[in-house]
Amino acid sequence: MLKRIAAKDIRMGMFITELCGSWMEHPFFKTKFLLEDSQDLESLLKSGIKEVWINTEKGLDADEIVQGKTLSDIELETEAMLHDVVRTKSTEKTSMAVEVKNAQKICARAKEAVIIMFNDARMGRAIEVENAQLLVEEIADSVLRQPHALISLARLKNSDEYTYMHSVAVCALMIALARQLNLDEELVREAGLAGLMHDLGKIGVANKILNKPGKLTDDEFNVVKSHPQIGASILMNNPLVSALVLDVILHHHEKMDGSGYPHRLSGENISVFAKMGAVCDVYDAITSNRPYKKGWSPAESIRKMAEWSKGHFDEAIFQAFVKTVGIYPTGSLVRLESGRLGVVTEQSETSLLTPQVKVFFSAKLKTPILQETLDLSKLIGKEKIIGRESPDDWGFRNIEELWSAH
Ligand code: C2E
Ligand code: SIN
Ligand code: FE
Repeated sequence: MLKRIAAKDIRMGMFITELCGSWMEHPFFKTKFLLEDSQDLESLLKSGIKEVWINTEKGLDADEIVQGKTLSDIELETEAMLHDVVRTKSTEKTSMAVEVKNAQKICARAKEAVIIMFNDARMGRAIEVENAQLLVEEIADSVLRQPHALISLARLKNSDEYTYMHSVAVCALMIALARQLNLDEELVREAGLAGLMHDLGKIGVANKILNKPGKLTDDEFNVVKSHPQIGASILMNNPLVSALVLDVILHHHEKMDGSGYPHRLSGENISVFAKMGAVCDVYDAITSNRPYKKGWSPAESIRKMAEWSKGHFDEAIFQAFVKTVGIYPTGSLVRLESGRLGVVTEQSETSLLTPQVKVFFSAKLKTPILQETLDLSKLIGKEKIIGRESPDDWGFRNIEELWSAH
């Protein structure tokens, strides 16, 4: 039987099936588990969760403490949908330090390949989809070894190379998100290919518009709005491009509330792949420097997207995305309870709130301090993140070096 119990009544040996409350307040990777590790109990209690659901068939009961309640089937289904998308990554992992070096080479090659792809499209030549597929394989392998290396590198781009590196970044994000959603490896590759090609139709939009250092006029934005259809028409008759990929190209600007383009699709009329494309596209767009505005930091971007989430994104897919990149993605500047500032260098296996952070500055003393990497998952109760910070506010220029060269 499933029972809802207060956090104070949680005991070792209980089988937790759901953590109640806003999921962002307790982003554990494990949301269904037998409580047999006292550290897990400690983190659960420290997370501020008020109540949990336990399954008394799989673990200890709490009869004497509370009255049980059964979940309706609908709640069970929703729970499965929201929580089963989470699966901790396996063992093939490499460290950031190792994978950053691989990813730098892959990014450089990928950018060249994407430039060729866009030029072929511009010249009306056939797109060499096999080359794109090979590139996707390489990116998929890097993301498997260490997702945050290539994803964080591809975020760093000059505004003049935006369209190309944006394609690489969305490719990597789509791959990581597809794996988070437990899609088959074949579909993971399709998601990657879709990411790589999603903005190919921007060849139909003048650079004068794309690189305009200010807000677009209505006429200019109408030109931009034709890019999904242009992209789809270029690839429509290519036998190597699947309907899934075409769908992302055509519908990555649709929004859940029906206010997107080109077809004003809403809710369930938008495919899962296109919904994934929308989330990955916007995250990379707003974290990047543009001719018309500076990119927002990754943690700030996640926070903003969570705010817009309702009308724009599919909630479950956005949640899976946050579990993919982190609430404090690699490269985020954060303030710790001790008053130290640091950059997130690696994500934690257990909670989105306890990544590894390289501290380098004292916010109180306003001076640099001895650099040190802290694993916040091992410092529960002693040190924690209390907020996001903007590098610009502090005048920090090269915080990327703190994670990319460590
Ligand atoms: P993009 O820059 O690749 O952006 C993709 C999507 O990310 C945008 O689709 C939008 O949903 C989101 N996004 C990007 N920047 C922002 C932002 O500052 N705030 C918010 N709330 N969302 C943002 P959208 O709006 O349909 O734009 C499509 C394309 O039109 C953009 O692709 C970009 O190439 C161009 N564009 C949009 N706004 C401007 C602008 O103000 N100036 C210039 N030069 N181009 C723009
Ligand atoms: C947090 O504030 O730490 C999580 C919620 C969010 O990123 O909006
Ligand atoms: Fe687009």
